[in-house]
Amino acid sequence: MFGEVGMSRIERGLKLRWHRELASSPQTHAWALNLYRAGEKHPQTVDDYFPHAHAEEPWLIEALRRHEADEARHTWLYTQAIRELGQPVEELNGTDVFNQVIRQHTDARFDIRDGMSRDEKRFRIGHFLAHAHFLEVRISQSLEWHVEACEQMGARAIGAVVAEVLADEERHVSYTRSAAMELLGSKAKEVLAIHQAGERRANFDFSQHAVRGFLARFGRRSPTHLWFGWSAQVMRAGVALV
Ligand SMILES: [Fe+2]
Ligand SMILES: [Fe+2]
Repeated sequence: MFGEVGMSRIERGLKLRWHRELASSPQTHAWALNLYRAGEKHPQTVDDYFPHAHAEEPWLIEALRRHEADEARHTWLYTQAIRELGQPVEELNGTDVFNQVIRQHTDARFDIRDGMSRDEKRFRIGHFLAHAHFLEVRISQSLEWHVEACEQMGARAIGAVVAEVLADEERHVSYTRSAAMELLGSKAKEVLAIHQAGERRANFDFSQHAVRGFLARFGRRSPTHLWFGWSAQVMRAGVALV
């Protein structure tokens, strides 16, 4: 109906409007930062992320260790940013955590047991890297919108924190793909496709859940008709916002 160019303009408008809305008050901004923080903290709540103990190549061990430390630092950065907004840090779980949602959309497993063969271990590390890759792509896109919205709304301090996180996420996007390709070899294309499809389904699910949660919490702050119109517009467009 709109064509590709028309749709991308509509999508851009919707996403910027959404992220500007998030940056418009300390309460809504902290709500968004708590969602980002929950994803950053997820690795600390599970035992199958960043399997550097099972990796063989020194460069991969180093990259996984650095990645793990980055996400822990991002959790801390968001914690500080939420406190600077004078808002509570919320410990979210379940469908409020994008990592959890994306994992529900594939059967892939990353847990590695000592008795596994070398090939099995490499295959599972490859799955983890493919999972992380599409997660990082999606997070980076969301953060790009958010940094732009922060600039437009004059939320410079938070924008600087998010830009700092984004710089690391872009590095994560890059190495996870190349490492997955190297470990998985001839199976790389198939495994990457599984995680790409899972991320696509999860993205829309998570976005709808987040928009509904946002409206339930903050919808009454603005004229009701605006919010009903806004949410309907978003759902019709099938745009993942968060
Ligand atoms: Fe991160
Ligand atoms: Fe990351």
